Amino acid sequence: MHTLSTLLLLLPLASAHMDLKYPAPLNHPNNPNTNPGTADFSYNSPISAAQFPCKGHHKLLGTPAGKSVATWAAGSTQNFTLSGTAVHGGGSCQASISEDGGKTFRVVRSYVGGCPAVGKAFEFVVPKEAKSGVALFAWTWFNNLGNREMYMNCAAVTISDGGSKGLSDLPEIFQANLGSGCETVPGSDVLFPTPGNDAVIVNPAATAPVGACG
Ligand SMILES: *[C@@H]1O[C@H](CO)[C@@H](O)[C@H](O)[C@H]1NC(C)=O
Repeated sequence: MHTLSTLLLLLPLASAHMDLKYPAPLNHPNNPNTNPGTADFSYNSPISAAQFPCKGHHKLLGTPAGKSVATWAAGSTQNFTLSGTAVHGGGSCQASISEDGGKTFRVVRSYVGGCPAVGKAFEFVVPKEAKSGVALFAWTWFNNLGNREMYMNCAAVTISDGGSKGLSDLPEIFQANLGSGCETVPGSDVLFPTPGNDAVIVNPAATAPVGACG
């Protein structure tokens, strides 16, 4: 009897996938530096543990396909945008930067609830301590409805006018739903354990993840 309603619920979820539009992510078909023969045509899919970080595309840094697509001054306000179809249930996202080629990612802003959204520029401040040079920008998303998943898209960006300290004082990127024991709670926006000092709280009722969350 509830087959139809189950189907109606699942249909939109199947198309709820999103991907990073700006800055153009590494190996994305819409990134002008992408080698068309090896582009990732399932960019909006969730990552597996083996695809952390960046769906594996961080390895393109330092190659022609991994050329920086934007220059951001340390201390400036920047934004990312997303593309995809309707966002059923939304979730929580983080904007992070890696200064070491993808070994560590430091959170520059957490969006607790209300992310993703289509046609919105999600603003964040590039910390003035960020070092000059090519860095990885990461957008990570934990969906509210549907399977427990983690999405991660990365772009090569250039930080200019940087500081000397770097970002090591900022929290590490949140990881969950990768089979290592930390899971987000279905039907809720995840409350990041360490969202950083610059979190945007759209959903004050966000729920902490469960299990072994580093
Ligand atoms: C987002 O960043 C882009 C690139 O720097 C800029 O052109 C655009 O005006 C920004 N959008 C908003 C709403 O701040």
